Amino acid sequence: NKGGYEHYMQKEIHEQPESLTTTMRGRLIQGGSCKAKTVLLGGLKDHMKTIRRSRRIVFVGCGTSYNAALASRPILEELSGVPVTMEIASDLVDRQGPIYREDTAVFVSQSGETADTLLALEYALENGALCVGITNTVGSAIARKTHCGVHINAGAEIGVASTKAYTSQIVVMAILALAVGGDTISNQARREAIVDGLYDLPSKVREVLKLDNEMKDLAKQLIAEQSLLVFGRGYNYATALEGALKVKEVSLMHSEGMLAGEMKHGPLALVDENLPIIVIATHDACFSKQQSVIQQLHARRGRLIVLCSEGDAASVCPGESCRVIEVPQVEDCLQPVVNIVPLQLLAYHLTVLRGHNVDQPRNLAKSVTTQ
Ligand code: UD1
Ligand code: BG6
Repeated sequence: NKGGYEHYMQKEIHEQPESLTTTMRGRLIQGGSCKAKTVLLGGLKDHMKTIRRSRRIVFVGCGTSYNAALASRPILEELSGVPVTMEIASDLVDRQGPIYREDTAVFVSQSGETADTLLALEYALENGALCVGITNTVGSAIARKTHCGVHINAGAEIGVASTKAYTSQIVVMAILALAVGGDTISNQARREAIVDGLYDLPSKVREVLKLDNEMKDLAKQLIAEQSLLVFGRGYNYATALEGALKVKEVSLMHSEGMLAGEMKHGPLALVDENLPIIVIATHDACFSKQQSVIQQLHARRGRLIVLCSEGDAASVCPGESCRVIEVPQVEDCLQPVVNIVPLQLLAYHLTVLRGHNVDQPRNLAKSVTTQ
């Protein structure tokens, strides 16, 4: 049931205010006798001590699920103080990389059935790590085989390109960061700002969905391009990877997400007046660095599309040639949830305009259950 939409991907993009609300239901606690703003993850409460004491947290996933974990890494490191490392499931298995009893390994998977992620889980179980699942599918292999975990409760996702599961995964991992971080006096203001930000997030996503027509218009401009680059950093390095993944998997346009800090170490050679480049420059601690990236790309006559916070258009755009997409500003660790939405819309419209299959892209499967 496409609920009046033409495609599942379109429906799933537009239902994110509701799916995010469902993801958070019962997990944010405000007021009550202690008046503290806090969080509850029922599936993890008996394991929280072990997670807090672990020497390292290792995120494991594939595709969009890996990108969601990458988006959540900075806030988990900040609030927990535990080192967080990233593993693409197949690469962990290929290398037989070190996993120890003192590790917490977190397996992120929408379907809960991805073969590579399952193999990595079996490997981590053999090595004695505490294994935590973050999945959308109750009763899935990953939900059953992990020691504990969290269901993201985003509702069934049909489109092969993951959209609402991505934003719900990030929200669950932000709540995970709050849960692992625990209450300390020093981080109280930060924690409360994040909890307030989570409450407001569905309405901010509803606002950013109003960019639909603007993104369709941008898609029309990009329809015949061969290639698209996306630069991000900090919290939005993941947004660059995920935005580019969305564009390539459904619209079949070559697209690469890149860490802006690496721009001078290779990618800059590609810049000319033809190649479209999206720069994510919303307002956070990396903002001035992104402003300087934009200036350097502009100096090489780069064709820029800048995604920035509302009100920042004048300070990010060096010339009339630059196109700006303004999005509402939210707490930095939640900004990836808002920022991915226009890129999901862009990927969707590019695909429809280019005449490709939106919900079942060529050669891809929703759940990759073979190696
Ligand atoms: C649970 C109920 C929910 C109910 C709520 C009320 C289920 C599936 N969830 O939600 O319907 O409204 O209590 O308190 O019945 N788990 C794993 N691996 C995973 C994911 C989950 O082991 O990858 C385990 C968890 O550790 C937990 C159980 O599955 O034991 C349910 O997880 P989750 O649905 O996230 O728990 P609650 O949010 O407490
Ligand atoms: C496939 C899907 O490649 O698997 C992607 O097409 C998805 O959308 C990836 O991100 C990982 O899937 P899962 O179910 O483990 O999150």
